[in-house]
Amino acid sequence: MDKFEIVGGQQLHGRIRLSGAKNSALPMLAACLLTSDECILGNVPDLSDVNFMLEILESLGAKVNREGDKVRIRSEELTPFGDYNLIRKMRGSICILGPLIGRLREARVSMPGGCVIGTRPIDLHLKGLRALGTRIDVESGYVNAKAINLRGKEIFLGGRSGPTVLGTINVMMAAVLAEGMTTIDCAACEPEVVDVAQFLVAMGAQIEGVGSPCLRISGVKKLRGVEYSVIPDRIEAATFALAAVVTDGEVVLEGCQTHHLSAVLDKMNEAGCEIIREPNGLMVRRGKVLQSVDITTQPHPGFPTDVQAQMMVLMILIPGLSIITERIFESRFMHVNELIRLGADISIEGPSAIVKGGKGLSGAPVMASDLRASAALVLAGLAARGTTEVSRVYHIDRGYEKIDEKLRSLGARIERVTG
Ligand code: EPU
Repeated sequence: MDKFEIVGGQQLHGRIRLSGAKNSALPMLAACLLTSDECILGNVPDLSDVNFMLEILESLGAKVNREGDKVRIRSEELTPFGDYNLIRKMRGSICILGPLIGRLREARVSMPGGCVIGTRPIDLHLKGLRALGTRIDVESGYVNAKAINLRGKEIFLGGRSGPTVLGTINVMMAAVLAEGMTTIDCAACEPEVVDVAQFLVAMGAQIEGVGSPCLRISGVKKLRGVEYSVIPDRIEAATFALAAVVTDGEVVLEGCQTHHLSAVLDKMNEAGCEIIREPNGLMVRRGKVLQSVDITTQPHPGFPTDVQAQMMVLMILIPGLSIITERIFESRFMHVNELIRLGADISIEGPSAIVKGGKGLSGAPVMASDLRASAALVLAGLAARGTTEVSRVYHIDRGYEKIDEKLRSLGARIERVTG
């Protein structure tokens, strides 16, 4: 298993080009199953999760061809039966369910498991798909779905923690080929949901209210192939913005769409970071005086759970008390014990982490546990005195394209040790 060796204390300077958003690319690749025409997706990031998704599509019968960041997919003959072992490797693969039901009226897909950040149920996905007329049983680890008539319906898709991103996308992807009108209330508004909806519209789907909590989808008989480009990754942008600040550097994020990141930029601004819009991106650096801020994760446009761990690293470095409350996933503090190993003073009280900042960090061996926790450990290593070894970096390779190379191009001392 590969690990990163990071010698901290180097200021990051320069420009990076953001990769395409993982959480748009995954469901968008699945959406290509909705047509027998060829779809061409651009700006598709080279990530292990994306490669898994391409394997899954191939196992369903799609022809996949990748050249650089461009992926061509043609799904003429499809089977509704997903490969159990392939699909259960990645939670995001659940988003093949909606397209298979939409196109074939049938699907057999393995049940995604929980993961370290929480239980990750799919009850809302199933509720929405059942409301459209799909008969669904969960048996022997599989979701078996069959729809005789797929018909539009009014669906409320809110759960305990609010809307669901992939649940909204799944139901939307089935509804575009259902008969009649579907409304999804309490739809997720994340930029990735908007991106997938716009891709579907380009394919000929009729969707109104894109980006709002109420989607109105008028089913069509057929979708066509299109060429479309995935949006830049806002979570990668936030991660590199924070990397610039925690190393006291200055980085320009090329392609950053600031309106996707308002809550993060607002908190960074409140903390005293300098954020300057440029014609094709965003320049970020540490301000003269930094101060601690409190954060609560929320559905978009609130502060994203996927940036909570990285923001915690900034709070660790600023003198004062900061409270970080996680409201989306029940156990997304796996990074805390590893950050404590590096010298952070953090205690957990229910859904909140209390950070007493300002003590500085010193390098140590730490272990990555999930994607964003790993990103936080890399940021901490960049800011720490001495050497930090982050093991199990396969977690980070799932969602950050060549993070080590990009950081090195900004002046970081980070090496991948293959083992
Ligand atoms: N939930 C339910 N029932 C459901 C679905 C979700 O109760 O049927 C709950 C979840 O347990 C959670 C909340 O609703 O408490 C929100 O979960 P959501 O369904 O929105 O998460 P997701 O769609 O499975 C996507 C991203 C995650 C990101 C979340 C929240 C992808 C592939 N994953 O997951 O990304 O954290 O939305 O924004 O799009 C990551 O990139 O590191 C990552 C985990």
